[in-house]
This record gives sequence, C-alpha cells and structure tokens, in this order.
Amino acid sequence: MILLGFDDELLLAQQLAAALACPLQLIQRHRFPDGELRLVLPKPLPEQVVILRGLQQPNDKLVELLIAAPTARELGAKRLVLVAPYLAYMRQDMEFTPGEAVSQRHIARLLSQQFDALITIDPHLHRIASLDEVMPAGQGLALSAARLLGRWVAQQVPGALLIGPDEESAQWVSEAAAAARLDHAIGRKVRHGDADVKLALPEGEVRGRAVVLLDDMASTGRTLIGAAEQLLARGAASVDVAVTHALFNGDALPALRAAGVRHVWSSNTVPHPSNAVDITPLLLPAIAELLARP
Ligand code: R5P
Repeated sequence: MILLGFDDELLLAQQLAAALACPLQLIQRHRFPDGELRLVLPKPLPEQVVILRGLQQPNDKLVELLIAAPTARELGAKRLVLVAPYLAYMRQDMEFTPGEAVSQRHIARLLSQQFDALITIDPHLHRIASLDEVMPAGQGLALSAARLLGRWVAQQVPGALLIGPDEESAQWVSEAAAAARLDHAIGRKVRHGDADVKLALPEGEVRGRAVVLLDDMASTGRTLIGAAEQLLARGAASVDVAVTHALFNGDALPALRAAGVRHVWSSNTVPHPSNAVDITPLLLPAIAELLARP
C-alpha cells in the first residue's frame, strides 16, 4: 500500500503515512500557462492506494482527482481510497431557488465513480442523514472530529459553555459536549447572503461564562462573528472558537479578532495556523477498515 499526497498538504500526509507505517509519495503538479494541469504519479503503483486530498478551494482539486484517479488505476492500483478530510459542496444540498443545482449530489456521485471508497470528516450533512443518500451505500465514510474538539476545549477552558450557532451544529456540539462533559446550547441562524447572517442565540445565562463557539466550519467567519458579538454584549467572560474545518476565507480571521474572539482553534483537516487538534487518530482505523474490505 502507498499514500499519495500533495505538497500543499504535506504535514498531514507525513503524519498519516507515519501512523499507517506506509510509504508516502507526492503527486507532482505543473500548471501550464493556459491553466491546464500536468500530474505525475509514481510508477508503478501497488494494488492498494490511498490518496489524501482535502477539497478546500475545491474546483482545481476536483480536476486533479479526475485525472489522478484513473491514472492511478492505469499504473496498477486495484483499490483506490480517497481521504478528503474536508469534503466540499456539501452545503449545496437542496434546490434553494428554481433550477439551482443540488451540487452535493453531483459532486458526491462524481467522486464515487472514481474511487472505491471515500473517507471524510464532518461533511456538512444537514438535509441528508448519511453519505449513503448521495453515493452508493457504504462507499462514503463520514467521521467526526467533534469529540476531539470537545476534549481539546475542555482542556483549554475547563467548565466552558459550548454554543453551536445554528440548528445543524447541534449534531457536532452535542457530541463534543457529551465527550467533554461540558454544558451546551444551540442557536438559530438565517442566512441572507454569503456574508450576511442573522443569529438568534439561546436565551440562557451567559453572563460571566467562558463561551466556546463550536461549528463544523468557518468560511467568511460571519456566523461566528455574529454569535461572538452577541455573546460578548450579553456579558460572556470570554468567547473562543473551535471548528473542524478552518477555511477562514478573506478577512475572516482578523474580523473574528476584531469582534473580540480570544482563541481560534481548528482540527488539521485544512492546513491553517489555528490547527490544534490532530485528526490522524480518527483516520487511521477507518482507512485500515476500508482497505481490509473484500
Ligand atoms: C453552515 O451552516 C455551516 O455549519 C457554517 O455555520 C457556515 O458554513 C459558516 O459559514 P460562514 O463562516 O461563511 O458564516
């Protein structure tokens, strides 16, 4: 077996290869002046190949995978597993306006056609309960970093109140709170635009409490910023943030700081300076189980 990775996710690739006790090789990339990609994979490949590719900033990476997967098979791979710690397009899970593509379905199907199995962490499963609803049953394995994040928070801020900003965060926040024996509460959110969200946070007492906002991802950061501003206005002693996927696009990070957020922590699904929680221990048994399947 071999792990194939990319240079911009080298650290996680190295950690994963060490934990799996397997060789790691990088897929070399060149971008031609016209924007096309040239990929070079190691040749030959063993029968079992795991490709690590997070799908933050997804569009170029999807094309990479559409080229890399069939090439890996041509070079000898018989069983091909994609580890995509962050799986993009999962929030586009319904036809919000007439004619709008339900991209979640199509991207999941596309990947399932290229790979024998896919492992991901905290995909945004909101209107569907499982990846089985968008790809052949059993082909997609969704793990959660919620417990790891909960335990990390409990170590950093003993007695913290965990708050999930919106209904869909309830699944992660309740799991994190149970694992770390912390209080938790869930708010409600209405999104009016990419960076325009209105939040209604739970009425419970936050005055004097150390609050940690927990969510699956931060993109523009506006969800967390809106929540942090309300909590600090209501007298929270401190507001920290913990997310699985540190997308933090545009000015998200400085804007969070400006809103009064103290610490920002994330798992290392997406390489980012806020990475504090290692997901390798989650991935390890899942990869072993998938590779052991007949
Ligand atoms: C969606 O509900 C997700 O769980 C996140 O709350 C959301 O994607 C965060 O986006 P942003 O950082 O742009 O507010």
